[in-house]
Amino acid sequence: MPSISILGATGSIGGSTLDVLARHPGRFRLHALTGHRRIATLAEQCVTYRPERAVVPDASAAMQLRNLVGTLEIDIAHGPAALEEVASDADVVMAAIVGAAGLPAALAAARAGRRILLANKEALVMAGQLMIDLVLRHKATLLPIDSEHNAVFQSLPRGRDTSVKGDGIARLILTASGGPFRNMSLERMASVTPDEACAHPNWVMGRKISVDSATLMNKGLEVIEAHWLFGVAPERIEVVIHPQSVIHSMVGYIDGSVLAQLGNPDMRTPIAHALAYPERIDAGVAPLDFAQLSGLHFESPDMVRFPCLALAKSALFAAGSAPAILNAANEVAVEAFLAGRIGFLSISKVVEASLERVAAESLESLDHLLEIDARARVEARNLVEQHTI
Ligand SMILES: NC(=O)c1ccc[n+]([C@@H]2O[C@H](COP(=O)([O-])OP(=O)(O)OC[C@H]3O[C@@H](n4cnc5c(N)ncnc54)[C@H](OP(=O)(O)O)[C@@H]3O)[C@@H](O)[C@H]2O)c1
Repeated sequence: MPSISILGATGSIGGSTLDVLARHPGRFRLHALTGHRRIATLAEQCVTYRPERAVVPDASAAMQLRNLVGTLEIDIAHGPAALEEVASDADVVMAAIVGAAGLPAALAAARAGRRILLANKEALVMAGQLMIDLVLRHKATLLPIDSEHNAVFQSLPRGRDTSVKGDGIARLILTASGGPFRNMSLERMASVTPDEACAHPNWVMGRKISVDSATLMNKGLEVIEAHWLFGVAPERIEVVIHPQSVIHSMVGYIDGSVLAQLGNPDMRTPIAHALAYPERIDAGVAPLDFAQLSGLHFESPDMVRFPCLALAKSALFAAGSAPAILNAANEVAVEAFLAGRIGFLSISKVVEASLERVAAESLESLDHLLEIDARARVEARNLVEQHTI
C-alpha cells in the first residue's frame, strides 16, 4: 500500500484530500500530516485519521499538539527539516502548503523522486526551471491539483510528456470565474474588505488564494504554472472568463478541436483524479446536472480593472527571477490587505512597483532565488510601510 504525506493538511486542499482518502480506506497508508497555525485542527485530524507522523512549525506547537492528542501513538516532529523529511519519505506527497513556504518541501519531494500532487502553485511560479529539472533528474512525477491544470492534463493526449512537438496542441485555454468583483466598478473596488474579497462565488478556498482570485493574480500565477507544467510557450496560453466555473480549462488543437474537462466546482475532483491516476475513484462530488445549468458564458478578462493578470504575464515573458519577484511582492501585498493595512487596489500597485525596483536577473541556484525572494519582500514591505503606492 503506498504511503502519503499531506503537507498543509489543515488547509482547504488538505481537508478535501482527507475527505477523499476517507472514502477509500486501504488505498493509502497515511504517513504524515502537517499544519502551521491551526494546531487544534491538526490534533482533530490526527485523532480521526491516525497518521504515523505530524509536523508543526516549532517546539511549542509540538507540545501543544501532544497535549491535545494525549496518549495517541504518533511521532510529532517540528521545524523545516522535519517538513522536508516527511515530503521525502512518503511515496505520494500532497503539496498543499500556501505560498513560498511550500517550496523547500516541494523541492525535497522532487529530489526524492516522489509522486507529487502539486497544489502549491507558488513553488512552480518561483522556481519553475529548478523544480522541473529536479523532477526530470530524479524521475519524480508531477500531477497538477489546480483545477485548471488538472483539466488541461485530462484534455491532453494520454501519456504526453513535457514535449509539445508533434502532438498537435495549438493552445491552452485557462478558464477564470472572474472572482467576486468581476462586474464591480474601480471606485467600489477601492473600498472592498478582506471578507468581501474572500467570498468567492463558486469555490471555497483559503484566504490568500481567494484574494488572488479576486485580483486575477491567481490566473496570472496559473499561466506561469501552466508554462512550466506543460512546456507550452507563454504566447500559447490564453485566459477566458467563464463565470459558471463548469469548464475547468481546455486544450485547443491545430485541427480546430477543443477538448475540455467539465464538472461541478469541487476540488475533490482533481484531488481524486491525481490520487488514483491513471485510475478513477469516487470523489464524493455530485454529478454535473446539465438540465440545471442556466448557460455557459465566456468573455475576455478586463486587464484595466485587473492589472495583476498582465503583470504576471509580463513577468513570465521577462523570465529569470521576475516571476519570483512578482510572487514575493504579491504575498506581502495580500498579507497587508488581509491585515487591513492597504486597500484592495494597492495590491497590484505594490507588485508593479516591486517589479520596477528589483531588477530581474537570470537564476543561478536555489540560494540565489531565495536571496532575490528576500530582497523583493523587503522592497514590497517598504512600499506597504511608506504608503508610496
Ligand atoms: N483551495 C483551493 O481550492 C485551491 C485550488 C487550487 C490551488 N490551491 C493552492 O493550494 C495551496 C493551498 O491552498 P489552500 O486554499 O488549501 O490554503 P489554506 O486553506 O490557507 O491552507 C494552507 C495550508 O498551508 C499551511 N501553512 C501556511 N503557512 C505555512 C508555513 N509558513 N509553513 C508550513 N505550512 C504553512 C497552513 O497551515 P495552518 O492552516 O495550520 O496555519 C495550511 O495547512 C495554495 O498554494 C493554493 O494556491 C488551492
